[in-house]
Amino acid sequence: MDKRVTLKIAKIIKETDTIKTFFFEHELGAKPGQFIMLTDFEGGEKPFSIADSNSQEFCITVKKVGEFTARLFTKKEGDYVSIRGPYGSSFFISAGNVLLVGGGYGTPPLYFLTKKLLENGAKVSVVNGAKTKDDLVFCDKFQKLELEYKNITQSGCLGRAGTSVDLACECLRRKKYDFIYAAGPEMMMKSLYPYLENYQFEFLFERYMKCAIGICGNCTIDPLGIRLCVEGPVLPKKIVDKLTEFGKYHRDATGKRVKF
Ligand SMILES: Cc1cc2nc3c(=O)[nH]c(=O)nc-3n(C[C@H](O)[C@H](O)[C@H](O)COP(=O)(O)OP(=O)(O)OC[C@H]3O[C@@H](n4cnc5c(N)ncnc54)[C@H](O)[C@@H]3O)c2cc1C
Ligand code: FES
Repeated sequence: MDKRVTLKIAKIIKETDTIKTFFFEHELGAKPGQFIMLTDFEGGEKPFSIADSNSQEFCITVKKVGEFTARLFTKKEGDYVSIRGPYGSSFFISAGNVLLVGGGYGTPPLYFLTKKLLENGAKVSVVNGAKTKDDLVFCDKFQKLELEYKNITQSGCLGRAGTSVDLACECLRRKKYDFIYAAGPEMMMKSLYPYLENYQFEFLFERYMKCAIGICGNCTIDPLGIRLCVEGPVLPKKIVDKLTEFGKYHRDATGKRVKF
């Protein structure tokens, strides 16, 4: 869908001091892993993953990181924004034992995925990590579902210090999994990758996006020229294995390479 829709913000939930979830009463028809482009009519348009979607509403979970997201944080219920989408590839809905590895604000799209996996009869384990508890989201939401759930922070403010990759490795040692999913900072997925040699997996990549419809080329990834807004943001193992720039560099707004 390339048509733009103007929507009222139906509800806002403050997840932490720097993360909020925005709800919209609109049937988006999205699949887990897809994203929307959103503008507040005041300049710029930015991509956000869909954290949940059904026939009545959908939501996105936003971390305040810069000018656009700070402006979004000033919005109130009843204010209007404009969106287009959903765009991009979506996660494969596996059966069997599945492990989901989330990092920071990358975790919310895994919530939408979890619900679809459970509907499909999968047995779900989720590990959710963040730098501090200010970046750790959706703990309560996951704990309400029938699954195995663990969270951890690098700061150790909730007990033991560590990363979601540490927890994922413990899960992989303990149990056999049929499919692995990850969403979060690219360096988190890069450090998880060596442990997944013998697994089928999908990673959700976030790269700088402008058009979101495959025209501008800003989101291409070497050496395949894959456009993350069309062929991604969810990429399977057979593609990730071939990416030479994975975890090495990404591109800024001008298309210039920036090292991680
Ligand atoms: C597929 C996809 C899904 C995303 N999902 C979420 C989400 O669910 N929640 C969330 O909080 N953020 C998400 N992001 C990132 C979000 O788009 C940026 O945080 C946001 O655009 C920052 O804008 P800003 O002006 O506040 O910050 P800026 O100061 O402009 O930038 C801060 C950081 O955000 C990145 N960024 C800025 N503009 C873009 C852009 N057009 N495309 C991609 N990255 C950008 C920059 O590289 C920089 O690292 C997603 C990005 C992509 C590509
Ligand atoms: S953002 Fe323009 S091609 Fe992907």
